[in-house]
Amino acid sequence: MTTRRTIAPEELGTLNLADPRLHAESDLSAVWRHLRERQPVYWNPATETAPGFWAVTRHTDVTAVYRDSARFTSEGGNVLETLLAGGDTAVGRMLPIMDGEKHAGLRRVLMSAFSPRALEPIVESVRRTVTRLLGEALDKGSCDFAADVAAGIPLGAICDLLGVPDRDRAHVLSLTSSALGSHEADSTAADAWIAKNEILLYFAELARDRRDSGHSDVIALLAGSEVNGLPLDDDEIMLNCYSLILGGDETARLSMVGAALALLEHPDQWQALKRGDAPVDTAVEEILRWTTPALHAGRTATTDTEIGGHPVRAGEIVTVWNASANHDELVFHAPGELRLDRTPNKHVTFAYGPHFCLGAHLARAETGAVLAGLRDLVAEMEQTGPARPVYSNFLSGYGALPLTLKAA
Ligand code: HEM
Repeated sequence: MTTRRTIAPEELGTLNLADPRLHAESDLSAVWRHLRERQPVYWNPATETAPGFWAVTRHTDVTAVYRDSARFTSEGGNVLETLLAGGDTAVGRMLPIMDGEKHAGLRRVLMSAFSPRALEPIVESVRRTVTRLLGEALDKGSCDFAADVAAGIPLGAICDLLGVPDRDRAHVLSLTSSALGSHEADSTAADAWIAKNEILLYFAELARDRRDSGHSDVIALLAGSEVNGLPLDDDEIMLNCYSLILGGDETARLSMVGAALALLEHPDQWQALKRGDAPVDTAVEEILRWTTPALHAGRTATTDTEIGGHPVRAGEIVTVWNASANHDELVFHAPGELRLDRTPNKHVTFAYGPHFCLGAHLARAETGAVLAGLRDLVAEMEQTGPARPVYSNFLSGYGALPLTLKAA
């Protein structure tokens, strides 16, 4: 019950890949296929207000760009929104938009909090939350899967990681949805800006409290660590806390909502999951490929260079499209089919190389908890209204999914 207009490759000349409406309202699979085959490094022309940029669509070229942060830096911004606006004020201070030694050093510090072992108690808590939220939805018999189930999971896990006290969680949740809800019809850019600043201030205060506090959360970890011999200042701590919310809340929600929708739209796969023909771990990877919540990533070429033999000049913006690479016929057999037992599954949903998603294990565990919860607790689901897409050129998926469900 999702209707999107299929865009034909002939329309390519009229499209702007930076337009959020294009991604929310249309099916671009034929355009991506055409680009992979004919123009794998495609120049999206400048508009009156924004510069042009390269769009890279083949899996092999996408991974080559991701791998090489010396030739393709994140320090001009790593998404179209900031790249087209001329950069990001947090460049060089926030993990996703720094490169080189400092990036490697900060990443090493944070990795200790994101290892499967360190995340064990958080993953346990995610499973309990999923069971509780699905139980409540089953008791009512109907829910908006996005608002009533998925929204309650990732931000809670991030708050656990950051040690946000229980009393502040509702506040952080509501600020986050205002700060990042700019693709919702009823919020303004000014609301989003104010909310973002409030979140940053909140984390700055928490960071000050946590210095030498003996806590074991990520804020205390950042406050007590040195990167290449230098301590992080309060701004850097605050920005990197925010970056976990930016990177790990809505992306993960969208993959969970996308999981429920994929099962609704593919009853054979829902049965395969229920029968155990598709193990949850394998199904998670296919859901991540299928949903691709982060459509693209962006870089800036540092030097005159080439991608797949195609010349690119220093200073030009290069975008790599996970949405296309995850459907590359040269890597995936029958990429247009959802196959929960697909192996191998070399999707680039979490990127590749030095900026590979820090929260990948957590995101996998969250999506896995939802799939296992649906498999074990739910006998039947039925969609009762249209899924509402998010309007973004970066995030892809649905912000509302009404359905009814019956207990197993
Ligand atoms: C990086 C996707 C969940 C934290 C990335 C990147 C992608 C991505 C594509 C690379 C960006 C780039 O190369 O410019 C996703 C998706 C998720 C998810 C699709 C959910 C399904 C999470 C979670 C967290 C997180 C749960 C943390 C709580 C980060 C961080 C980075 C990152 C900190 C930057 C890593 C670095 O630059 O070294 N993610 N992510 N992500 N992600 Fe995730």
